[in-house]
Amino acid sequence: MFGYLPGVGRPTSGSEPSAFEAQITGARDDAGTTVRAATLDDATATLEIHNLEVTDSTVLLDLVPRSLAEQREWLAQHTGGHPAVVAVNDAGEVLGYGSLSTFRSRPAYATTVEDSVYVRRDARGRGVGRMILDDLVVRATAHGFHSMVARVVGQNETSIALHRACGFELVGVEREVGRKFGRWLDIVELQLLL
Ligand SMILES: CC(C)(COP(=O)(O)OP(=O)(O)OC[C@H]1O[C@@H](n2cnc3c(N)ncnc32)[C@H](O)[C@@H]1OP(=O)(O)O)[C@@H](O)C(=O)NCCC(=O)NCCS
Repeated sequence: MFGYLPGVGRPTSGSEPSAFEAQITGARDDAGTTVRAATLDDATATLEIHNLEVTDSTVLLDLVPRSLAEQREWLAQHTGGHPAVVAVNDAGEVLGYGSLSTFRSRPAYATTVEDSVYVRRDARGRGVGRMILDDLVVRATAHGFHSMVARVVGQNETSIALHRACGFELVGVEREVGRKFGRWLDIVELQLLL
């Protein structure tokens, strides 16, 4: 190894932001939307957003909805250098969430992370996804990662446009690697070098 360890810890519950969190947060749009680290208390809201895309769309290749316990476990695993974040309005309501996940399990890939962003259907098209992805880029940079990758279903033009708007460039297309609802799905890979 080369003495490199991306990521620092942070609590997954509690309302007081850590010192690290205080450096990261700050963006606020005109409607009062902000992005913060997710806590276990966000399990229900993020689960609703996630499961609707599982059962009702091809943007996620999961086929089975998650349980609340599984969502809590997912949130508990997304800490430190691989965080989950939520966008909240000024009433504290969750409008969307995003995460940085391990890109590949083999150790030499440790300097790359994979992102995901999901916005509640009634909150789309007003900059929430952009706020979340911008926040994830800041976090990935602050944690010392070198590269961010997004793997997006080819038919998901909105997510591809979002990533391009945040500076990601097209790497390539894996043709018909997924199948859901009787349709073949391409995966488009986009990348941002940090
Ligand atoms: C993809 C998604 C996260 C975008 O979130 P959003 O809040 O609607 O996007 P924003 O309003 O922040 O728009 C950001 C950029 O995305 C692009 N974009 C957003 N909506 C778009 C649309 N309907 N068509 C084309 N481009 C679009 C634009 O480039 C936009 O930037 P601009 O407004 O400066 O032109 C959201 O549509 C979503 O949750 N989709 C379902 C889940 C999903 O596909 N997640 C990605 C899985 S990899």
